[in-house]
Amino acid sequence: MRHQWLLLGACGWVLLVLMFVSKFISLKTDEGYRQTPSQSWTVGDAKVVKPASVQSPVKQTQPPSHQPSESPTGTYWQEVSERRLGHLSAVCKNSSLRNQTHVSISKFVLDRIFVCDKRKILFCQTPKVGNTQWKKVLIVLNGGFPSVEEIPENLVHDHEKNGLPRLSSFSPQEITERLDSYFKFFIVRDPFERLISAFKDKFVKNPRFEPWYKHDIAPAIIRKYRKIHRESDLAASGLHFEDFVRYLGDAEGRRRMDRQFGEHIIHWVTFAELCAPCEIKYSVVGHHETLEHDAQYILREAGIEQLVSYPAIPPGITHYNRTKVERYFSGISKRDIRRLYARYEGDFQLFGYLAPEFLLN
Ligand SMILES: *[C@@H]1O[C@H](CO)[C@@H](O)[C@H](O)[C@H]1NC(C)=O
Ligand SMILES: *[C@@H]1O[C@H](CO)[C@@H](O)[C@H](O)[C@H]1NC(C)=O
Ligand SMILES: *[C@@H]1O[C@H](CO)[C@@H](O)[C@H](O)[C@H]1NC(C)=O
Repeated sequence: MRHQWLLLGACGWVLLVLMFVSKFISLKTDEGYRQTPSQSWTVGDAKVVKPASVQSPVKQTQPPSHQPSESPTGTYWQEVSERRLGHLSAVCKNSSLRNQTHVSISKFVLDRIFVCDKRKILFCQTPKVGNTQWKKVLIVLNGGFPSVEEIPENLVHDHEKNGLPRLSSFSPQEITERLDSYFKFFIVRDPFERLISAFKDKFVKNPRFEPWYKHDIAPAIIRKYRKIHRESDLAASGLHFEDFVRYLGDAEGRRRMDRQFGEHIIHWVTFAELCAPCEIKYSVVGHHETLEHDAQYILREAGIEQLVSYPAIPPGITHYNRTKVERYFSGISKRDIRRLYARYEGDFQLFGYLAPEFLLN
C-alpha cells in the first residue's frame, strides 16, 4: 500500500518537473518571435500538437505556444502553413482589396518563376528573402552542378547558362501544365522591412556591378520627389529613404517611371505583383521571419529533403527588427507613411502581417 502511494507521489513530481521544464523551454524559444508582427495572427487559435511522451492527465491551461513543440517538419508546421494559405485565399476574396491583390499572370510574373522539371518544382523569386539560396538548390536539382558550393556566384543569376529556365520560356500549354501540377512556392517577409532592405542594398551599399541604381534610378526619383534639389549634384547626393518612400507611395505617379526602370523594380514592387498569389495556387508561402522552419518544411513538402539541404541560417538575422523599422521611418511624415502603407496594404493583408500601427498613428 505504502509503496503504491510513494510511487504515485514520485510520478506526480516527475510530471510537474517535466511540465515546468517544457514551459520554460517554450518560453525561451518564443523570445525571438515576440516582436514579429507576422506571427501574431497565428497565436490565438494555434492548435498545439503535443508529442505523445509529454501527454499528461492534467489539462493544459496555458495558452498554446506558437512555437513548434516538436520538430518543425512535423504536423505543427503543416498547420501553420495551411492556416497561412487559408488566410491568403480569404483575403484574395476580399473585394475592397481587389485592385491590390489581383494581378494577371503576365510575362512579368512568368519571368519571376523558375522551373525545376526534374523535381516538378516552380519557385517564384522575391528578392531580399534569401532567394539566391533557393535558386542554387534548384540549379543543383536540375543537374547543372553537383553541389551548391560548386556554383560560381556570377552564374546564379545568369539564366542563359545555369540550367534554371524561367516559366516564360515555355509554350502556353507547357506553362499551364506546370502551373497545374508542380509544387509551387515563394517566400515573403514584412513588407516595410523588405523595402528597407532593398533600399540599403541598392541605394546605400550601391554595388559597383549595378551602376544603374545610382546613376539612373536614384536621380530620376530625386528629381521627381525631393522638394529641393540641385540638378548639378543629383548623382552625388544619393537617394534618401524619404525620397524612396514618397516614390513608392505614389501609385499613379510612379507608373511611367516604373516602366522605364524595367526589371529593376522587382526589388520593391509588391509580392502580389511579383508572384500573383491570388491567381496561382501556391503549395507553400514561406515567411522569411521563420525561415529556419519554412525552409525545412518546403524541402520536405517538395520531396527533396533527402537530396539537398538549405544552407545554415545565422541565428537571429531573419527576425523582424522593429527598432530598425522605427529608425528608418523616424524622419518621415505620417502622410507619406500612410500612403506607403496604402500601396503595400495588399501584401500586409495577404500574408498576415499586422499593420505597423506604431508608424501609422
Ligand atoms: C477587406 O479588407 C478591408 C481593408 O483592409 C477590411 O477593412 C475589411 O474588413 C475586409 N473584409 C473582410 C470580409 O475581411
Ligand atoms: C484601388 O482602388 C481604390 C478605390 O477603390 C483607389 O483609391 C486606389 O488608388 C486603388 N489602388 C491601386 C493600387 O490602384
Ligand atoms: C535591430 O536594428 C538596430 C538598428 O539598425 C540594430 O542596432 C540592432 O542590433 C538590431 N537588432 C537585432 C536583434 O538584430
